[in-house]
Amino acid sequence: MSDFVSEFWNMYVIVITAASVFACIALLYVQSKATFTPGKTMGHVWDDTLEEYNNPMPMWWSWLFLITIVFTVIYFTLYPGLGNVKGMLGWTSANAHQAEVAKMDATVKPLFAKYQAMDVKAVAGDKQAMEMGKNLYLTYCMQCHGADARGAKGFPNLTDSDWQWGGEPEQIKATLNEGRMGVMPPHAQVGADTVKDLANYVRSLSGLPNDSVRAAKGKEAFNSVGCSGCHGPDAKGMQALGAPNLTDKVWLYGSSEAVISETINGGRNNKMPAWKEFLGDGKIHVLTAYVYSLSQGK
Ligand code: HEC
Ligand code: HEC
Repeated sequence: MSDFVSEFWNMYVIVITAASVFACIALLYVQSKATFTPGKTMGHVWDDTLEEYNNPMPMWWSWLFLITIVFTVIYFTLYPGLGNVKGMLGWTSANAHQAEVAKMDATVKPLFAKYQAMDVKAVAGDKQAMEMGKNLYLTYCMQCHGADARGAKGFPNLTDSDWQWGGEPEQIKATLNEGRMGVMPPHAQVGADTVKDLANYVRSLSGLPNDSVRAAKGKEAFNSVGCSGCHGPDAKGMQALGAPNLTDKVWLYGSSEAVISETINGGRNNKMPAWKEFLGDGKIHVLTAYVYSLSQGK
């Protein structure tokens, strides 16, 4: 039921609707009282042969009018529509929508309950659950992680076996429930020269072309300026902090010296939103299994 902000619009709708109905009744009445001269023309001729007669309206046409008027009166008695008048059946579009949602929930609820009682890995092997997981993914996650879940710059690929925050079911579930904040502080203070050394060292870790003298100096700096505190002494990363493994070929931002230097100089701030409140336990459980399934067998 619409709620008009001012009484004016309520009256406006009622007056125009009622006036239209009365105009129809008036037309029917006037026509029924009029005198006709069937068979005689009014003397008006158009296009040589088109003549105007003074005949009554066809019966079917009058009946149609009458039925329409009766329908209108019955409809507005039962249903809302005449301004703010509610209608005797108490029907509202909001009620109708809620009833549909409740019906839908009733059919899906047992399904989600069934999956929630199952282990994440078992859910990941269930074909129907994975269909549901895919639909949920395409509705809530695609805009950032991509339709194929392969991510983009700054948005992690979910189909590989490289995990910033961990790929075990509990870790994925925690990521979805609470969200994640990947924070790498800026390190421009170490100086442009050291940044260049560090960038060469980071590139050497994954076998990319680099200046070996700078890389050796970068290796020392990696420990002395504190990179190892988050990425680990072997640079293999630390999932508790979301610090990525720097020794693999997977890059969140890019592997060029320029992009790595940009990360070191300016730091990074990245946010995965929390979904607990919005999606609820049942959907999160199925989504966890879906994300888990994406990287299996890789
Ligand atoms: C607004 C963009 C956005 C949306 C929407 C989003 N994510 Fe993320 N997600 C991110 C970002 C950014 C990160 C990386 C956070 C970081 O760098 O620490 C991330 C990280 C993750 C991770 C951790 C990956 C790893 O390697 O540990 C998982 C799993 C994940 N998202 C799953 C999902 C799922 C499932 C959904 C849908 C419910 C979703 N995301 C929706 C932006 C998004
Ligand atoms: C306080 C912890 C912390 C410290 C200290 C830190 N990092 Fe990071 N680093 C992170 C986190 C967290 C990310 C991921 C940022 C994100 O989620 O967007 C990251 C990302 C990176 C990346 C991007 C990797 C990619 O896949 O694109 C590089 C390169 C990097 N760090 C190198 C370094 C170097 C070199 C240092 C030392 C100068 C350093 N980090 C110090 C936490 C840290």
